[in-house]
Amino acid sequence: MKRVISAAKVLDPDPEFSVSVIGWQKAHGRHTLPWQNTRDAYRIWLSEVMLQQTQVAAVIGYYQRFLTRFPTVGALAEAPSEDVMAHWSGLGYYTRARNLHQCAKRVVNEYGGVFPADPRLLADLPGIGRSTAAAISAFAYGTRAAILDGNVKRVFSRVFGVDEFAGSKPVEDRLWQLAEALLPGADVEAYTQGLMDLGATLCTRSKPACARCPLASSCVALATDRVHLLPVRKPKKAVPQRQTAMLVIIDKGQVLLEQRPDSGIWGGLLSLPESASLLPIDHDLPDEASRFEQDIVNAVAPFGTAGSWERLLTISHAFTHFKLQISPYAVHLSARVHSVGQNAYVWYPTDRLGDAPLPAPVKKLLMALFQTDGLFDAQR
Ligand code: ADE
Repeated sequence: MKRVISAAKVLDPDPEFSVSVIGWQKAHGRHTLPWQNTRDAYRIWLSEVMLQQTQVAAVIGYYQRFLTRFPTVGALAEAPSEDVMAHWSGLGYYTRARNLHQCAKRVVNEYGGVFPADPRLLADLPGIGRSTAAAISAFAYGTRAAILDGNVKRVFSRVFGVDEFAGSKPVEDRLWQLAEALLPGADVEAYTQGLMDLGATLCTRSKPACARCPLASSCVALATDRVHLLPVRKPKKAVPQRQTAMLVIIDKGQVLLEQRPDSGIWGGLLSLPESASLLPIDHDLPDEASRFEQDIVNAVAPFGTAGSWERLLTISHAFTHFKLQISPYAVHLSARVHSVGQNAYVWYPTDRLGDAPLPAPVKKLLMALFQTDGLFDAQR
């Protein structure tokens, strides 16, 4: 049976879903991880926190060393924080270690050293979110509580064909409702472990093993050939576009460069003079062309008399936060104004441009123009 969920529609869950997950977990899931086959909430909590942002293989050694040094929640609570941090060192995301220590202290002080079974009480403790609270409660106490971590979101998104980004609040709320509705009446430990195992071993981000998946016959993504498209990725923000015109003013084997201010893009580098008034025009309209010619003459006037000019190929340059479209114009002077007046400008020999501190797209443009004797005669 196939269903597609949208943020607007309440689902009616698939009763076969949990049966398939539990059956598969028992036959093919993981059963010998160091934090399995125990009801010790301390051990289970520790593993779930370590596994929040770290893969199983990287966690195992840390988990074992940590338990040897801190065998109980009491031992952890009374340990010096440097000792706790030292045993976490290398696992990353150190807020987890600080929260872990605080959490151990609260469990000792507020719960007499016994982790509460209620997932809502667990989720009130430092470093335990809703999904981690449910996992601890299910594994340690057999509580019927729904998990929804990144792996489970991926499984649900594919099986139920969720074609919206799962990080948005409405879609996330819908997935939590789905996770609650799918919970089985019994065997919640195998079901919870089964969802984790499916996400980690079969329904992986890339190259999922659909041929071996117990949910393949009801998977919307598989039926509609969208396994590689789901879950939907975070929508990228549109990158703003900016435009500028650059003048390549050439005279007697030299090109005019401008020192950029120290702050802002390309801070402190030499670049080509830019002109806001040269943008944008339709070069095919005769009136526009003559106006444009006058604009070029005016833009170049502080440096000399424009003899001839030509439009060069437009360049696109991507910055982190915007895209810059550069329209370059080459202008050959028939006479130079001898003092350029402002000391931010410098006439630079074209045969030394290779050593100039230029922004990458400007260097590329100038090297293409002057490197060979094909395009321009540098002595002109
Ligand atoms: N990831 C999060 N919790 C896990 C668990 N209990 N076993 C394996 N991977 C996990």
